[in-house]
Amino acid sequence: MSISAKSSIEKLKTYKPNFGKSKLDNLIRLSANEGALGTSLKAIKAVKSFSTNLHRYPPQVSEDLIRAIGKRYSLNKDRIILGNGSDELISIIAQAFLDTKDEAIYTEYGFLQFPQAIAVAGAKGVIAKDNGLTASVDNILSKINKKTKVIFLANANNPTGTFIPKDEVIRLHSSIPPNVLLVYDAAYSEFINHHDYIDGSSLVEKNENVIMLRTFSKLHGLASLRLGWGYCSQYIIDNLMKVRGPFSVNTPAIIAGIAAVEDIDFQKMSVAHNFEWMAWFEKQLKILNLTFEKSLTNFLLIKFPNDIKYSAQSAEDFLAKKGILVRGMAVYNLPNYLRVSIGTEKENITLINELKKFLEKDNDNNI
Ligand SMILES: Cc1ncc(COP(=O)(O)O)c(C=O)c1O
Repeated sequence: MSISAKSSIEKLKTYKPNFGKSKLDNLIRLSANEGALGTSLKAIKAVKSFSTNLHRYPPQVSEDLIRAIGKRYSLNKDRIILGNGSDELISIIAQAFLDTKDEAIYTEYGFLQFPQAIAVAGAKGVIAKDNGLTASVDNILSKINKKTKVIFLANANNPTGTFIPKDEVIRLHSSIPPNVLLVYDAAYSEFINHHDYIDGSSLVEKNENVIMLRTFSKLHGLASLRLGWGYCSQYIIDNLMKVRGPFSVNTPAIIAGIAAVEDIDFQKMSVAHNFEWMAWFEKQLKILNLTFEKSLTNFLLIKFPNDIKYSAQSAEDFLAKKGILVRGMAVYNLPNYLRVSIGTEKENITLINELKKFLEKDNDNNI
């Protein structure tokens, strides 16, 4: 007899980000959708000043951070729950709401943590086919049955960058039974300035069966500290708090989070940078004859020819040799695509120059 993990866990693959194995110095990392401009200097200063209380547990719930988030986003602070990254919230939602006999729906090219969390909770994940590379409300609705307990939807989605408009989100919610929880992951919402987009907070305020998820890892540039939050009913908060470890968000994350969320100038600068360079990327990719999905986020999904010489894998390897990390999409069943985060001016220009060299290799124009 030897020990064995639950069979549902043994079968699972461990999530692997692409941070690269390269020994090159000054790697350009455009593989994890991190903040292009780093972190607010105010947040860095706040963390630096924290050191004397390392021996103390963090507060179980930081009222100060919750108040700061509520103020910044004009939301009711009583509906906010903090998490050790929104990844933790995704996991504990699955654990709190899914039994082994239950089903949870996620979209075909939706964020990979959804099926992972569903499987870890021991429930059955059900895929709703996308329409092209965009979530399809009809396909999600067609998968609902009596066993369905949760629907996970990232809007805008990672890795596609695509979104479904306000009317479709409302149609989705109004068509699902009240006992089905809609997890609306709005991780990239701060980058989005589109008249037809909703971040989900208004749905939360009117309904008990919706939770909006947000993160400090993207706009606020605090990915290393692991800080996310959810907006939902008291019932959901109470039950998530039962599943979560007694201490989740650490004190430096709380301190940095308050400084970051209050640093509106840094946020404005980051959003403006993203807009400017997203437009630039779109132009450059067109010049290079590469197709891409229109993205509302801080990254782009780029398609490569189905030709070994110019394939996505060859491009990823070529760029890695030049010290540029991008994210291969084979894990998402999109082997012809690479996902590329918007970086600094220098990083973006270097990437496009190298991509150009890649496509011109052997001066062969047969792509
Ligand atoms: C859609 C989506 N949700 C959640 C996350 C995870 O965010 P966090 O760093 O807060 O765990 C990501 C990160 O890439 C994401 O793309």
